[in-house]
Amino acid sequence: MAYNDFNMDSHWLPFTPNRHFRKEPRVFVRADGMHFTTHDGRQVIDGISSLWCVGAGHNRKPINEAIKKQLDTLDYATAFNAANDQAFLAAEKIAAMAPGDLNKVLFCNSGSEAADTSLKVALAYHRARGEGHRNVFIGRERGYHGVGFGGMSVGGIPSNRKVYGAALLPRVDHMRFIHDPANAYIHNQEPQSQEDYLLELENRILPLHDPSNVAAIIVEPVAGSAGWYIPPQGYLKRLREICDKHGILLIFDEVITGFGRMGTNFGADFYGVVPDMLNFAKCVTNGVIPLGGVICRDRIYDAMMKTDAPEHVIEFFHGYTYSGHPVSCAAAIATLDLYQKENLFQRAGEMGKVLGDAFHSTFKGLPNVIGIRSLGLAAAVELAPIAGKPGKRAYDIFLDCFKKGSLVRPAGDVLVIAPPYVVEKEHISTLVNTLADSIKAHA
Ligand SMILES: Cc1ncc(COP(=O)(O)O)c(C=O)c1O
Repeated sequence: MAYNDFNMDSHWLPFTPNRHFRKEPRVFVRADGMHFTTHDGRQVIDGISSLWCVGAGHNRKPINEAIKKQLDTLDYATAFNAANDQAFLAAEKIAAMAPGDLNKVLFCNSGSEAADTSLKVALAYHRARGEGHRNVFIGRERGYHGVGFGGMSVGGIPSNRKVYGAALLPRVDHMRFIHDPANAYIHNQEPQSQEDYLLELENRILPLHDPSNVAAIIVEPVAGSAGWYIPPQGYLKRLREICDKHGILLIFDEVITGFGRMGTNFGADFYGVVPDMLNFAKCVTNGVIPLGGVICRDRIYDAMMKTDAPEHVIEFFHGYTYSGHPVSCAAAIATLDLYQKENLFQRAGEMGKVLGDAFHSTFKGLPNVIGIRSLGLAAAVELAPIAGKPGKRAYDIFLDCFKKGSLVRPAGDVLVIAPPYVVEKEHISTLVNTLADSIKAHA
């Protein structure tokens, strides 16, 4: 079959070194379960749930069937001034899964849109309550909230911000990163830290802006894109308390930690902390079709509806053509049903322990390994960078693993494995052993 019957002149690849890719293309043409087939007919294990999306594994019939059925029933309908039945059903399901009074779902199409939506809700909510002066946002160093201007501004990955400085939001600050070099090895549990990573927020950042001007603080419960960095015990609870004390909204960006990665519905459940807004995307549809959203607490929605404006006036001037797309929402309903039916979040928690044990027993002491972190169904091995060439070692190892049939994810000089929840022990062994061989080969 002529799978490699394409030229590469037109497609500009995202977050990919395009010049090198053209020399060594990696193109998928099929997927099933835990495996891809490449254009040149090779099998590759999906060790990263395809960007943290495919919790239930590839080519799941109930999801595919729901999409096909929805296409034949209601393919699309305007999202403004009218709605579709699937959006209500999906929102109800998602709200029921969310903790506390996180009950109101604003749909969008991606994690980036969710980030920008949540920041806009924060501004609009404060203004609706007569506190329009609250317009400072606080993110965290090395946080990732997508690539929109809002998400990029509160994000803290330097290379994602460097080129766009002049266009970043002006009233933004960043908390310090949560990595404690004294806790380089984290094995399936929250680290204890002597460091107080929130002291600077309380003693410098909030006084500098005055807490009364701060609209929201946004964090990933576990820093995913940076390379699976895990907050110390008590960190998120204390962040919640600080926000409450000063009337600041707390946003959890759960685009990665949402829908099962931690063995629970959300990271919020894992940590026992309820944010004011919870952003999701990725696993909500098993990655099969784009859908994102922001789940808001009741009081946010209620404040926005409590307006003196006449009833024909829109309360929140925001939305996307594809907000709550019926096909995406049908996919979400089928995906969430499937997770539940197969008990996949619990399975993710159980397989996470297997993955973490394999990481620590295999990588500890290998050349250049300077840290190993595992929690939930994700684990990271951190390597010393090659002098003067940050990221090169991990990128080369990623390429080598791919050639050997394992898809892993480089993030700086960290390599991450975060497989679908349906992963079996043998897949974990293959992924971890392949990665170990590559780490040794690139010593
Ligand atoms: C925490 C977090 N927020 C936002 C995003 C952006 O999502 P998207 O690529 O769907 O825009 C990501 C993507 O990895 C993410 O991990």
